[in-house]
Amino acid sequence: MSAPSLNLAGKKVVIVGGKSGIGQGIARGAQAAGATVIVASRRVASAQSRPDLIGFEQVSLDMGDESSVRSAFEAIGPFDHLVVTAAPDIGSWGVFMDADMSGVRSYMEGKFLGTWACARYAAPNLRAHGSITFLSGGMAVRPKLGFTAVTSAFAAVEALSGSLAVELAPTRVNTIRPGFIDTDMWGFLPVEARAGLKKKVEESFPARRAGQAEDIAHAALFLMTNPYVTGTVLEVSGGENLVASVS
Ligand SMILES: NC(=O)c1ccc[n+]([C@@H]2O[C@H](COP(=O)([O-])OP(=O)(O)OC[C@H]3O[C@@H](n4cnc5c(N)ncnc54)[C@H](OP(=O)(O)O)[C@@H]3O)[C@@H](O)[C@H]2O)c1
Repeated sequence: MSAPSLNLAGKKVVIVGGKSGIGQGIARGAQAAGATVIVASRRVASAQSRPDLIGFEQVSLDMGDESSVRSAFEAIGPFDHLVVTAAPDIGSWGVFMDADMSGVRSYMEGKFLGTWACARYAAPNLRAHGSITFLSGGMAVRPKLGFTAVTSAFAAVEALSGSLAVELAPTRVNTIRPGFIDTDMWGFLPVEARAGLKKKVEESFPARRAGQAEDIAHAALFLMTNPYVTGTVLEVSGGENLVASVS
């Protein structure tokens, strides 16, 4: 028996949200594993502004706009693995008792229906032995005061992946549920608050470290290459699920 491999040589991988944070980590991991990688999000960056993106094909896609998602996948054509990490901007979701429901509507439209749209318009293009991977977060199962829309959207994304594992079989569909990952998503915090949060994570999470985008990339490569994993939610959180909340 040969050793199990994370090799993606000859495969084409599309990462929605792949220009930054967790998605960029997955893009680099997939490229290192031999794949041709397309990164898709709202902005297409110039080589001058983002020389680190040379080597990735960039596609413009707004996951909150169904026609943009449809056109992007029509232009991309056949490929092997889809990963969707993108999410609307932090804080855009509002709170439950807001005067109206515009916050939750736009967050669900972006995160949940955007993830749905990416899978819907990618599915006809996925080659045999392909896969789809979504991203949720610990709040899917550990609600926090003020984050009802996020918990609801993450839980819906996880439910969607289970349902699509049946609907799109034999295409495999899974979700990664990350814990704290030290990306620029946390850039909205003042520098000291961000460092303090990271320190708390390092001291309290059972893994005794703060998660990096590479940790999620490793999990994504596993889900792309293991032919017997589908309908799974994979927690990659350093044990965040086992300790009290740090934020
Ligand atoms: N980092 C963490 O600690 C953590 C923990 C748990 C869960 N998560 C979840 O993981 C996901 C990604 O996190 P991250 O740290 O990688 O965030 P990030 O660095 O802020 O990246 C978000 C990406 O989403 C893209 N994006 C935003 N709106 C979009 C839209 N309407 N259409 C297409 N692309 C869009 C952005 O690119 P453009 O601006 O170019 O569109 C960006 O590349 C999120 O769902 C987040 O909730 C993160």
